[in-house]
Amino acid sequence: MNNRALSVRSLSKRFGDTLAVDQVSVDIEPGSFVGIIGRSGAGKSTLLRMINRLNEPTQGEIIFGGEVITGLKGAQLNQWRRRCAMIFQQFNLVGRLDVLTNVLMGRLTSIPTWRSLLTIWRDADKLEALDVLDRFGMADFAAQRCDQLSGGQQQRVAICRALVQQPEIILADEPIASLIQVSKQPTFRRNPF
Ligand SMILES: Nc1ncnc2c1ncn2[C@@H]1O[C@H](COP(=O)(O)OP(=O)(O)OP(=O)(O)O)[C@@H](O)[C@H]1O
Ligand SMILES: [Mg+2]
Repeated sequence: MNNRALSVRSLSKRFGDTLAVDQVSVDIEPGSFVGIIGRSGAGKSTLLRMINRLNEPTQGEIIFGGEVITGLKGAQLNQWRRRCAMIFQQFNLVGRLDVLTNVLMGRLTSIPTWRSLLTIWRDADKLEALDVLDRFGMADFAAQRCDQLSGGQQQRVAICRALVQQPEIILADEPIASLIQVSKQPTFRRNPF
């Protein structure tokens, strides 16, 4: 197996009486693009959240490049979350902050704490964030508050934030659901009266 392969072994998660994930095993090679398909409530988000270590597995192991991810704590766990970006189903943007700042948040774990507390961003980081926003047609919204955006626009910002993080893995939880909605033409009913 390649050095940066992801291996999930017999991973389970129980919430009380609900067995959300039941002994999932999968090996994913570097450079792969893998989709998880399942009905609502099947455990897709929970599986991704366990890989990111936002949910603790009840049982099983996650290994990346030979390193046991399930055992990481403290600084090493933070480091893992930097290497493994998550695009959340609910976006998890900070609504009152502008688009550019939300995207730059993807850089938070790779800058010194004092700089993150003062939210001093390097010009190079800002330029890169703007470049990524431009690729997603969102550069014109850089100064706009995130809570003033449509669902699809927020989703694009969330994708940009993950890319700016320069991760080794991207866990995308239904990342284009809102994009599909906004790309549809709105339908109007004729006034029946
Ligand atoms: N924090 C939690 N506490 C209790 N139960 C939970 C929690 N998170 C998820 N569950 C339950 O675990 C199961 C799997 O949920 P999950 O969110 O992983 O499903 P999903 O496949 O992502 O669904 P969807 O397609 O609707 O997003 C569901 O039955 C859900 O109710
Ligand atoms: Mg889900």
